[in-house]
Amino acid sequence: MKVLVIGNGGREHALAWKLSQSRLVDGLYVAPGNPGTAAFAENVDLPVDDVDALADFAETKRISLTVVGPELPLTLGIVDAFEKRNLKIFGPSRAAASLEGSKAFAKRFMQRHNIPTAHAEIFHAVEPALKYLKAHGAPIVVKADGLAAGKGVFVAQTEEEAEDAIRRCIEKEEFGPAGKTILLEDCLTGPEASILAITDGKVVLPLPTCQDHKRIGEGDTGPNTGGMGAYSPAPLVSPALYKQIFERIIEPTVKGMADEGTPFRGVLYAGIMITPEGPKTLEFNVRFGDPECQPIVMRWEDDAVPILVKAARGDLDRDTQLTFSDDPAICVVMAAADYPASPRKGDVIAGLDEAAQLDNVQVFHAGTKTDEQGRVVTNGGRVLGVTARGESLKAARDRAYEAVDRISWDGVQVRRDIAAKALT
Ligand code: AMP
Ligand code: GLY
Repeated sequence: MKVLVIGNGGREHALAWKLSQSRLVDGLYVAPGNPGTAAFAENVDLPVDDVDALADFAETKRISLTVVGPELPLTLGIVDAFEKRNLKIFGPSRAAASLEGSKAFAKRFMQRHNIPTAHAEIFHAVEPALKYLKAHGAPIVVKADGLAAGKGVFVAQTEEEAEDAIRRCIEKEEFGPAGKTILLEDCLTGPEASILAITDGKVVLPLPTCQDHKRIGEGDTGPNTGGMGAYSPAPLVSPALYKQIFERIIEPTVKGMADEGTPFRGVLYAGIMITPEGPKTLEFNVRFGDPECQPIVMRWEDDAVPILVKAARGDLDRDTQLTFSDDPAICVVMAAADYPASPRKGDVIAGLDEAAQLDNVQVFHAGTKTDEQGRVVTNGGRVLGVTARGESLKAARDRAYEAVDRISWDGVQVRRDIAAKALT
């Protein structure tokens, strides 16, 4: 069968790499893909938000399964558009994607279904928001309602910072329509973990635990990024805690969405904070995380295709269990100079072949392109996700950094402490 992956990041390279190993697949396309996916799949020059063109392509090429990487096409309704044409696609409908597309929707949903999360109030104008801020005090978290590429969350330590964030969202419209509605949320504390599951709207198949590293700097310092590295499993989440998160958060979410007539199919990703009062939901994503996807697929042993097809059809078997290697995996992101502010493009990347020679290492491309001279150069903030598996987390980590050390370009940024918390 023919399979199409939508997206061009490290997550999509990892998904396509995984799908390419299925014996069921005899044609693999990635739209738009990157130089990494071009090595084993056919890149299709279509942007992720051109839903109609993607559906036309899938129809013409008789694609049997489409897998969507990023959130944007999901919130635009790509799944609804494909299903209208009887094209099978793995991901949530536009209505179900609101769990990520609108933080106000997600918050009200969690409140309706008693799913643990921070208390928050929703505002559409500056004055009432400032009034609430005065009564509440700092610290407080200001969140833009809509998609803001990870930049719409402000953990404000002072009332001044919070007021500034409120004005940037509502008055200055820095996030466009995404910031016209905001949440003012209680500030929680505790370590964070990413909990993901595949679901067909009823049956929930847990994916292994994972931890992301969101800040640019070692020791979790500096500005937020899309994620500078991830590892799986995350020992911070004990088996008891994992069970509790599924019972109190993931399963009630899937059931609640089905009960409300908007069943959620696809990957449900909950960003969880382990607070002194137990796990609480910080956010939902409606897709694999990036870079969480990379170490997870490195550990995934099943043929992914039949599972994603059944999930897309809404007929996963209750007794299906996913199989993951016990060997931990880690992804170290190599980022461009000046990321995340204004990543520099065009730096020539050396050492890709040398890194690829290492066993149990995959170098997933993200922000790369091939220039006129055929050289692979930087073309985005997060450039590569160097991912390795090993008999222990330490072995996986050492192997990933061995590969990282073979790769270089001008101004490359790497955190040397990915997974360090789990190793001490
Ligand atoms: P989000 O995009 O909602 O996951 O938020 C991005 C980051 O902001 C999270 O990974 C947390 O580190 C932080 N954050 C979000 N909500 C809260 C909260 N209620 N309390 C403290 N930190 C938060
Ligand atoms: N790594 C966080 C995300 O994918 O949203």
